[in-house]
Amino acid sequence: MEQEKTDQLEQSAIKEAEQAEDSRALYEVKMRFLGRMGSVIQLMKKMRDLPPEERPEFGKKVNALRERLERAFERIELALKMRELAERLKTENVDVTMPGRKRASGALHPVTVVKNQLVDIFAGMGFEIYEGPEIESEYYNFTALNTPADHPARDMQDTFYLNDSFLLRTQTSAGQIRVMENKKPPIKVLSPGRVFRSDDDATHSPMFHQMEGLVVDKGVTLCDLRGMLDEFARTMFSETSKTRLRPSYFPFTEPSVEVDVSCAACGGDGCALCKGTGWIEVLGAGMVHANVLKNCGVDPEEYSGFAFGMGVERIAMLKYGINNIKLLTENDVRFLEQFRG
Ligand code: PHE
Repeated sequence: MEQEKTDQLEQSAIKEAEQAEDSRALYEVKMRFLGRMGSVIQLMKKMRDLPPEERPEFGKKVNALRERLERAFERIELALKMRELAERLKTENVDVTMPGRKRASGALHPVTVVKNQLVDIFAGMGFEIYEGPEIESEYYNFTALNTPADHPARDMQDTFYLNDSFLLRTQTSAGQIRVMENKKPPIKVLSPGRVFRSDDDATHSPMFHQMEGLVVDKGVTLCDLRGMLDEFARTMFSETSKTRLRPSYFPFTEPSVEVDVSCAACGGDGCALCKGTGWIEVLGAGMVHANVLKNCGVDPEEYSGFAFGMGVERIAMLKYGINNIKLLTENDVRFLEQFRG
């Protein structure tokens, strides 16, 4: 009778274990038979009801049953694990020949690309970088640059005033003063930055970038400026680029020049980009005015210097044939994607 019961228990435990669908179900079966409240323990408790002389025999039997069940569960568990592993290997199979998923990556804005190129070119010539503040006082933006309050040249630039004496700088030239006030010649500084003017059409934007250059030392001449600009044009545009200086006017340079570069699109023959002239204006420059040097405590009898200022957007537009400056601030990805470098 007892024997029958244990046999039955053993059989149903093994049967249930074999039917378990996964490790979790198997674990539950195991707990039901071998756990702390499991059938085997219950069986063991029955020992109390037996006469003492039958107990050792009974205990042995139940222990043997437990051991057999433990081994059976181990065997079944191993088989189940193998089955599960085989299943996983099948479903989690990686097809290494499948093409990869494309990930969109960003790229530098064309203005940043051009700015970095300009900085590289001039840093290669030994220029240091100085970045001045975007909010300037009237003094640095105009007065110290030989442009007093009633000077008509102030009208050349439509200024955003913040109050009576502070404004958004209209030109990086303001940085010239800050540099000369703080550093004795020899000076060779490049000053890139944002500038602001109340101006808005296809080639003008209220915010744009300039790159200012300033060289002050003994015996600096306009020839040095020209040689340096030729070198710049060749590196920035093409090996065969040439420059041309035209007389111009800026209050803070004397003489002042406007610098044209031979049109890179047509090589100087004349095309739509250069409006048939073969030349494209790229920057303003000149010899630093004696008054500007004096304003910064630099003796114009001892030192001379040249300065130049170029528009970064303008250079980018020329280089890439962009016909509207707005494209550079709208940030339409369809436009920007074309400059993936
Ligand atoms: N600051 C001038 C402008 O904004 C450019 C310039 C810079 C001219 C330095 C001469 C010397 O137009």
